[in-house]
Amino acid sequence: MSTNTVDNKRKVTTARLTEMKQRGEKIAMLTAYDYSMAKLIDQAGMDVILVGDSASNVMAGNVTTLPITLDQMIYHAKSVVKGVNRALVVCDMPFGTYQGNSKEALASAIRIMKESHAEAVKLEGGAEVRESIERILSAGIPVMGHLGLTPQSINKFGTYAVRAKEEAEAEKLVADAHLLEEFGCFAMVIEKVPAALAERVAKEVSIPIIGIGAGGGCDGQVLVIHDMLGINQDFSPKFLRRYADLSTVINDAVGRYIDDVKSCDFPNQNEQY
Ligand code: KIV
Repeated sequence: MSTNTVDNKRKVTTARLTEMKQRGEKIAMLTAYDYSMAKLIDQAGMDVILVGDSASNVMAGNVTTLPITLDQMIYHAKSVVKGVNRALVVCDMPFGTYQGNSKEALASAIRIMKESHAEAVKLEGGAEVRESIERILSAGIPVMGHLGLTPQSINKFGTYAVRAKEEAEAEKLVADAHLLEEFGCFAMVIEKVPAALAERVAKEVSIPIIGIGAGGGCDGQVLVIHDMLGINQDFSPKFLRRYADLSTVINDAVGRYIDDVKSCDFPNQNEQY
């Protein structure tokens, strides 16, 4: 269990995240997609659990986040919520459920909240998704924004390289961050941009900035659980710190199980009725 949060059992709310930013207390966020992992992450003292559309990659094996459906996200979020007592649970809105039509966006967000019991939604983009954000917020649903590298736009970007290195894109990102704050988003993720830019945004806006590959000047950090636990070996960007090597642990355990079954060592006398 984290030494920071071990004594703190109070439920995390969107208001509490604002207070944390005001106090200068960093916000820890990780993804989860199922009940058992969410329970472990919550018990360790996580502040925010994101049911990310990265489920499309790490759970379903898709190359991008685009194929995952609203029904699938609701399934994952519902499982996560059952394992969580303390963390704020935020569910990603999948590609195609909020862009273009704000009524559909609201209907998608309502389904997420009603069916999964997640406490907030996250969606990608700035000015271009203004109507959707405002309509979702008008129904009392908290919205987390997501700027910088927005994986649902991979076909437009053509690459997962660092975003907003050029001045024009950096200024658009700063403007979008101010807009998200004005619209009423409670926080935003900023992904894979230069650290100085993310730090500038974190200083300029009053809502928490949760970074991934955006440096230490953000108000909090998020990683994909499969990446930080070393379950996913195919992904090693510079920003990723691995806290475990579970692929080796799992490979070793599974290999020993196979050997024990083949050699008739498992089950032994004490492992049967
Ligand atoms: O889907 C996801 O996991 C995310 C994080 C990378 C922020 O959006």
